[in-house]
Amino acid sequence: MDTAPAFPTLSITRHPLIQHKLTILRDRRTPTKIFKELVDEIAMLMAYEATSGLQLEAVPVETPLEPATGWQVSGKKLTLVPILRAGLGMVEGILRLVPGARVGHIGLYRDHDTLEPVDYYFKVPSDAAERDFFVLDPMLATGGSAAAAVTSLKRAGATRIRFLCLVAAPEGVRRLAKAHPDVPVYCASLDRELNTHGYILPGLGDAGDRLFGTR
Ligand code: PRP
Ligand code: URA
Repeated sequence: MDTAPAFPTLSITRHPLIQHKLTILRDRRTPTKIFKELVDEIAMLMAYEATSGLQLEAVPVETPLEPATGWQVSGKKLTLVPILRAGLGMVEGILRLVPGARVGHIGLYRDHDTLEPVDYYFKVPSDAAERDFFVLDPMLATGGSAAAAVTSLKRAGATRIRFLCLVAAPEGVRRLAKAHPDVPVYCASLDRELNTHGYILPGLGDAGDRLFGTR
């Protein structure tokens, strides 16, 4: 995993399989079915790295031969929080890796003119202060949606929050870090910039539309 000095909260996952799959995801000719499968697979592979800092606790285990000491992830179940809609595409892949995880939901969409987030839904487990949260969204563009999602989670009591995306723009990483410097951000690529409509360049287009075939 790489870090960039200008972006202290950011880790970039350079695993060859992730980079290979991300390139197919970017391709405008990739159909909805394959796009969905790739988002799912990349999210799972990224979650493997993004969970490497979780705390463990020692537990006794009886092997067929003798009692031993093993390890388990400590604390309450992890909570995945997809930002609707596109974040939904990342949930199933991560659940294959962490099947016991809880799933909250944050509904936000970007106003087409102002590019600012408009929120319409929020539901996470009530004991938020005791859980590790992974906010999921394939795209970190202006950072407005990500920052608003984290603000809502903190208002609900969450203190341990990580943000997982596939493609990030420098503008979004900076905005999220300024609003929430305590939130580590994981991405598969730090792209060049935003265009005048707030789309990431080179990016992969509108993630929600490509995932759900609503273009
Ligand atoms: C996209 C994307 C993020 C947001 C990123 O969602 O999935 O949530 O834009 O942009 P930002 O960093 O500038 O806030 P969109 O608002 O298009 O909603 P959708 O998932 O319902 O299509
Ligand atoms: N949302 C997307 O889905 N794609 C972008 O490039 C920017 C915001």
